[in-house]
Amino acid sequence: MMKRVLKMLGWTAAGILVLILLLVGYVSASWDKPVERRIPAMKAPRDSASIARGQFLYQTAAQCWQCHGENRGPGGYPSGGAVEDLRDIGPGFGIWYIPNITPDIETGIGSWADGEIVRLLREGVKKDGRPAFIMPSERFNGLSDEDVLSLVAYLRSFPPVKNVVPPHEPSIVAKALFTFGIIKAQPEVKDVIPTPAPGVTVEWGKYLTAHASLCMDCHSAVDLSTGQFYKDSLLSGGNFPFGKKGPGQPYDAPTFAFGKNITPDAETGIGTWTESQFLDAVRIGVRPDGTVLVGHMPYAYIGLWPENDLRAVYLYLKSVPAVNKRIPPVEFGKIFSEGRGVVLGAAIFDTYCKTCHGEAGKGAPPTKLVLAEIANTIDDATLEKFISQGQPSLRMPGFTKTLSKDHLGDVVAYIRTLKK
Ligand code: HEC
Ligand code: HEC
Ligand code: HEC
Repeated sequence: MMKRVLKMLGWTAAGILVLILLLVGYVSASWDKPVERRIPAMKAPRDSASIARGQFLYQTAAQCWQCHGENRGPGGYPSGGAVEDLRDIGPGFGIWYIPNITPDIETGIGSWADGEIVRLLREGVKKDGRPAFIMPSERFNGLSDEDVLSLVAYLRSFPPVKNVVPPHEPSIVAKALFTFGIIKAQPEVKDVIPTPAPGVTVEWGKYLTAHASLCMDCHSAVDLSTGQFYKDSLLSGGNFPFGKKGPGQPYDAPTFAFGKNITPDAETGIGTWTESQFLDAVRIGVRPDGTVLVGHMPYAYIGLWPENDLRAVYLYLKSVPAVNKRIPPVEFGKIFSEGRGVVLGAAIFDTYCKTCHGEAGKGAPPTKLVLAEIANTIDDATLEKFISQGQPSLRMPGFTKTLSKDHLGDVVAYIRTLKK
């Protein structure tokens, strides 16, 4: 009797093993099948106004550089190569590489037709017809014809950079998600999408939040078993900390932060924030309680949007369903408890100052000021006082509620080490 049971169990195990092998074989053979999708017959304009609009979208609104930029920064050329190591995320999605999107014919997108780039951006279908992963096409699916063509015009204006990027190394789990259509292309855009009329309206705010920027991506949770956003709780906060390995991180930072709940929930979201409190947060990173947001929140760039656009975003955020969900506070790396002096000052600078002042204080979009140049003209006490009080009219936030006296001293010590 015992023997028979054991024998049966053995056969069952063997059967399961064969099934698994068949499944792995099937997934490996069929995960990268192209989808049938027509190429839109669209031509990008070449005029300077369109290129300027594309540049605004690339740098300030949609912030493509968060992934595609050289060193994931806003400057430089998008010649690719950055690594998305997703082996430890959820079930493990493998290793993905950011492609070269300069107009180089061999290694970039120089051979792509305008319509093929439009299809990739809005529908997430690559030149070879395969669905794109990580690229936020779910967001860009609603970009207007005018805006998506401006982006194409801007991408074409970069000089071609030759840079071969390694092929992706998707895990078997990622391949299975492609095979079973969980990771898939976005819906086909069949009709003309007009740009909504700009103005302080919910409609314009929705367009900016849901399609022309990444607010929704950073502020929403991802189902880590499938890599897809939970659609029923968008904007109620992320579950993927910025600063750790993964998508959407501009630089290695000593702090880890989740996109916060920005639905109108009074307790856990921004339901009680007035419009002017909201504007302070998204323009200079200052919360209603006076503390400053860490630089993973790209307020340095969002702050460059026209004021009425941000007021429209506020209106839209007030109109979405309130979700009661508490997001964990910023996690500070070991350096904050163990570091001292200049070392800790550098970490504080990377966390709070770099987003506006640039790498080593050499300047970034909100200020061209080179900190190394002014540091020698001001004594320590005056510098500490300035940083602590800030100058909101110039877009310099005050850090009195955020940094202790010691921390102010550390960051000033770091500024003293900067070279021109
Ligand atoms: C969160 C990171 C991220 C952001 C933000 C992002 N991309 Fe991508 N993009 C990727 C990844 C990853 C791929 C490769 C997808 C694949 O091969 O499956 C890609 C692919 C592309 C491609 C196709 C290149 C090729 O060779 O397949 C183009 C063109 C592109 N992105 C342009 C843009 C533009 C323009 C923006 C902003 C409007 C943008 N991307 C924003 C991550 C990103
Ligand atoms: C690259 C990711 C990213 C993008 C894009 C982004 N945010 Fe954030 N945001 C964050 C992170 C991370 C925080 C939390 C920072 C902290 O706690 O110090 C944050 C914080 C905030 C806060 C403060 C909330 C609070 O309770 O303290 C507001 C408001 C906000 N973001 C609005 C926006 C809006 C509006 C947009 C689009 C225009 C946007 N964010 C785009 C990552 C992002
Ligand atoms: C939201 C963007 C922003 C952030 C964040 C920010 N700054 Fe500034 N900072 C500015 C701007 C804008 C100026 C004014 C530049 C000018 O005068 O043109 C400035 C000016 C300064 C000056 C020059 C003072 C002078 O007398 O000219 C110092 C020093 C400085 N910041 C240090 C810091 C430090 C240290 C941090 C982080 C703890 C920080 N800033 C964070 C935007 C920012």
